[in-house]
Amino acid sequence: MRNIVILISGGGSNMAAIVKTAQRERWETELGARIAAVISNKADAKGLQFAAAQGIPTRVLDHKAFASRGAFDDALAKCVDEFSPNLVVLAGFMRILTPGFVNHFAERLINIHPSLLPAFPGLHTHERALAAGCRFAGATVHEVTAELDHGPILAQAVVPVMPSDSADALAARVLTQEHLIYPAAIKAFLQKQT
Ligand code: GRF
Repeated sequence: MRNIVILISGGGSNMAAIVKTAQRERWETELGARIAAVISNKADAKGLQFAAAQGIPTRVLDHKAFASRGAFDDALAKCVDEFSPNLVVLAGFMRILTPGFVNHFAERLINIHPSLLPAFPGLHTHERALAAGCRFAGATVHEVTAELDHGPILAQAVVPVMPSDSADALAARVLTQEHLIYPAAIKAFLQKQT
């Protein structure tokens, strides 16, 4: 059985979409893959309750309890490693990871970013897309490399920007697409890995 570990910080709607798709498509039998754990750096991340209700092991590792970014990342890597991951999925995990962490999980670490990378890496992507007058926005699933929001692109989805859009309205439109492309990209990744 191959193990997928998902890291979250908040709502966890991407994580929930992945879990539901895995259940619907029977990834355990069809792909030999399961969601082995959901790990959050925030104890109050709403997604933890959903994961626990699905019978998925959950862990909380509060970054504020560590003296440095490196110390947190070392502890996080150990926590993730307890689940022998074949794939580590960042799903709204709002921490910049050290090169040490990224290298440790090289070629089995992926992220979703709410922009059409390489446009708008970093935060506030929807505000920046609106300010730039973009007619289209979207989301990108990519392999994680040491450089933030870079790395080979695995999937993208495009949505139109409406003249009346607020950043929240655009974010919501992009998020519906994230929920489709992230599970699909993970499935494709697992199929390639076998
Ligand atoms: C998503 O837009 C994701 O791309 C970004 O943060 C948001 C997280 O949403 N990095 P959720 O926690 O998956 O609901």
